[in-house]
Amino acid sequence: MQKIILTGDRPTGRLHVGHYVGSLRRRVELQNHGDYDKIFIMIADAQALTDNFDNPEKVRQNILEVALDYLAVGLNPDISTIFIQSQIPELTELTFYYMNLVTVARLQRNPTVKSEIQLRNFEASIPVGFLCYPISQAADITAFKATTVPVGDDQLPMIEQTREIVRKFNAIYKETLVEPEALLPDNEACMRLPGTDGMAKMSKSLDNCIYLADDPKVINQKILSMYTDPLHIRVEDPGHIDGNPVFTYLEAFCKAEHFERYLPEYMNLDELKAHYQRGGLGDVKIKKFLNNILQEELEPIRLRRKEYEKDISAVYDILKAGSERAREIAAQTLSEVKNAMRINYFDDKELLYNQISNYSIK
Ligand code: TRP
Repeated sequence: MQKIILTGDRPTGRLHVGHYVGSLRRRVELQNHGDYDKIFIMIADAQALTDNFDNPEKVRQNILEVALDYLAVGLNPDISTIFIQSQIPELTELTFYYMNLVTVARLQRNPTVKSEIQLRNFEASIPVGFLCYPISQAADITAFKATTVPVGDDQLPMIEQTREIVRKFNAIYKETLVEPEALLPDNEACMRLPGTDGMAKMSKSLDNCIYLADDPKVINQKILSMYTDPLHIRVEDPGHIDGNPVFTYLEAFCKAEHFERYLPEYMNLDELKAHYQRGGLGDVKIKKFLNNILQEELEPIRLRRKEYEKDISAVYDILKAGSERAREIAAQTLSEVKNAMRINYFDDKELLYNQISNYSIK
């Protein structure tokens, strides 16, 4: 069986370092290792509209931002097919047929949907489109027969729901769809990178993100003003690691070579942590270390983005070509799905002959 990746992001803003360690960095590694037969990266505009239907302009503008961020981190459109969800009408058609296989109660139990409903104050009246987005996500994944979906752990309920739909479809109709597996980041810090203010998640509305496209000065400012340990007032005071986002970022980003380069008096992160906990290590020193690391990691991304920004129409060409390629694959799967469901009336000679003979007997 082919090894196929599909994953994507909602275009509601520029991508930040949380997206980077949570999924983007992994995608590029997988792409460059060459273990996968096909890679599809989707800009999920239709899904973004399920909770931004009153602001399509926001979604429209951010498609380019996300595409630039993808190219900037090193997704290579010659290897990975980058496409726009709404341009593949087959996905909507698949969604409609999968809707029969899912109950409203099951959707309402989906933990991600549940927390998003609360977050958006949808409790009183949930838009149907929003409630159904896990079904549409199952269509995204199955249309490409994806075996592997690299995502953060907030997306696990979506993959589980997709697997249920696949099993149900294959059992009721005919073995057609492929059950995907989630691929999670390998460390806890990458799974849920907190905001610079120490809040659980980076979010644009909280203004606590470091964006991939931020200027070096902005990155430096954001790091120097990061929340740390409020009990660590004087340098000599013992500091706390838990809930201290500077250390979480270090866990997500730093490698042994960074110590050699920027902080040779320590061997590794454990030593740095131990010193902080003992007392005698100031916040500014660890923030400067983090800044050096992030500047090093983000510089090539920012420079690559600048190159692509010089030719925006080429970026749209990449998206258009990718969407055309993706559409062919999705159309093939849709045709298999319709065959399995026996709603292929005009391609089915047997149906016609049978109906003719039914009528000729009378
Ligand atoms: N739900 C994902 C997010 O919020 C975006 C997405 C849509 C997705 N369809 C997908 C991710 C299919 C993986 C696979 O970021």
